[in-house]
Amino acid sequence: MVSTPPSQASTSQYEVTDAQEKVEALVTEIKPETDIDLEFLYTRDIEFRQETIYFIVVDRFYDGDPDNSFGPNPELYDPERQDWGKYWGGDLQGIIDKLDYLKNMGVTALWLTPLFEQIEALFVEQAAIHGYWTKDFKRINPRFIGKDEEPSLNKTQHTRNTVFDRLIDELHKRNMKLVLDIVCNHSNPDISGTKGELYDDGVKIVDFNNDENHWYHHYGEVTDWENEWQVQNCELSGLATFNENNPDYRNYIKSAIKQWLDRGVDALRIDTVKHMPIWFWQEFNADIQNHKPDVFIFGEWIFSDPRNERSVEFANESGMTILDFGLCVAIREALAHGAPAGFHQIQDVLDLDHHYYRATELITFIDNHDMPRFQSLNPDPEMLRVAIALIMTSRGIPCIYYGTEQYLHNDTNGGNDPYNRPMMEEWNIDTPIYRDIRLLSGLRRLNPAVSMGSHWQKYLTPDIYCYVRRYRDSVVFVAMNRGASVTLDVVDTELPDGEHTDVLSRRKFEVKEGKLYNLELDSRDVIVLSHVGERIKAQTIVRAQLNSVQTQPGEIVAVIGDCPELGNWDIAKAYRLEYINTNTWFGEIPFNESAGKLISYKYVLMREGNSPLRENLVCRRWVIASEGTVKWRDKWASGRES
Ligand code: NOJ
Repeated sequence: MVSTPPSQASTSQYEVTDAQEKVEALVTEIKPETDIDLEFLYTRDIEFRQETIYFIVVDRFYDGDPDNSFGPNPELYDPERQDWGKYWGGDLQGIIDKLDYLKNMGVTALWLTPLFEQIEALFVEQAAIHGYWTKDFKRINPRFIGKDEEPSLNKTQHTRNTVFDRLIDELHKRNMKLVLDIVCNHSNPDISGTKGELYDDGVKIVDFNNDENHWYHHYGEVTDWENEWQVQNCELSGLATFNENNPDYRNYIKSAIKQWLDRGVDALRIDTVKHMPIWFWQEFNADIQNHKPDVFIFGEWIFSDPRNERSVEFANESGMTILDFGLCVAIREALAHGAPAGFHQIQDVLDLDHHYYRATELITFIDNHDMPRFQSLNPDPEMLRVAIALIMTSRGIPCIYYGTEQYLHNDTNGGNDPYNRPMMEEWNIDTPIYRDIRLLSGLRRLNPAVSMGSHWQKYLTPDIYCYVRRYRDSVVFVAMNRGASVTLDVVDTELPDGEHTDVLSRRKFEVKEGKLYNLELDSRDVIVLSHVGERIKAQTIVRAQLNSVQTQPGEIVAVIGDCPELGNWDIAKAYRLEYINTNTWFGEIPFNESAGKLISYKYVLMREGNSPLRENLVCRRWVIASEGTVKWRDKWASGRES
């Protein structure tokens, strides 16, 4: 770690020859009064692709602290758990109590519904059990924390060792992460004449009905969902919509979120991102990531789809990735509704992965708190296993809705909200899905082909889907069957020859010349075979990703530069990247000799029978961190032809 002295930089500092020291000197000059942790600027970048996320509606998980259940307004609590609009008692202590259950299932990150203090009243017979009607972004809902931790006793942000801090500690002790759900678009709706009352750690600062300082938009409800201006400026179901043009609002929301990040939050899930302009998110993400560079951020663009240009633009340019509604809809159609096109519908979505810069970082899911659970559409537990195996092994970061592993569902009114949020009641660690998630989460961490690799369809009919994930010499082969038992004559697997064991059932399979012959697939069968190749090791690993280079079959992307690791500008020694899709090339570049040094590099397209096409720029420059893992995210800077 390099930190600069708080003193003014002296001229002699410019005489140093080492490139690293020059950078330090420069930073010292720019911010002479500040202690800058240089390492922080370029070494830490979170890699979230190996995670398995579990999404919890906090109130409906587990009541670990009965003392807080009545909350500020006891009328809103139903101890009998009959009234679906009221609180049922789940809290943060309940989550701590169940961490071993979750860890043992292979869950590595918890996304919790928003934790902030909510309005304490019923709106359309609903209390804010979901957490999307915030009153104070700097305080936690008293129903989720200890009674002696109620905000009225102390300033929340000045109080430590609360149940919130203990949850973070307990998660981190288990090498698990916390994803905080935040809403920047709106506060709370109109309840008995009060609307949009907002507090700053207990101090009232804004009121929608007396909005002298223009913290809110006042344009009424969205009436035309095709009109982008309306979607961004008008109200969603009567929720008071923030005016992002007001810098005071922006400072408030950013400072609130930074405080929670300082308490140890690892990632953010952001609500309703489509309802605010992209410039707001670009600024927000830049500020948040300057504050905490290793935070992972994903947004909810409702019904995002690779065929929807606006949601694709958002995923590529906002600075955050998104929840993959496109794949979710296709999986539900194919596996829950039994659509005739079956797996073709899923492949059609994956075929459009090249629209995204970060397809391997999309958050994949089969249901959530805003739609009927998968089993309310199709109760077959074996089909649920197929769907879960699919998101655990295909590209993207899987997110499991709480209770899926216990087959939790209530089908009243088709299982729609609020019946998709039942109380968690079973904690059986022997269910087939609990076991599958544990095994496949282990595979995600072990085999980089699952978390980072390309996806190759090998056998596709409406009922049968075989695919290969590949990264360098690591390979995973998956076969699944939604229909009746069948035997496939031959399927290509890309696995090394020899015996392979199914990760899920421990059945043995013999691969010859890379193929499986007479592969028997029972109804609802899933087979997962894995081969882990050599992993890249080095003092510093750069995870380099290049987008917007539309490669043709046979072409290869490589990196050349002024250091030995990148061939010292010798194109024959350039470092080759891996093909992920026609828009994305990716590779882990090992740096030892040049770790900690300033280097220059550019990308080059190798074309058979044609001269290499180098990027048309002087070069890119970067200080390689002295250790750890960093990411480069670059866009191809050249036309196709030289
Ligand atoms: C999306 C959330 O997922 C949903 O549950 C909520 O009601 C709306 N955004 C409004 O915040």
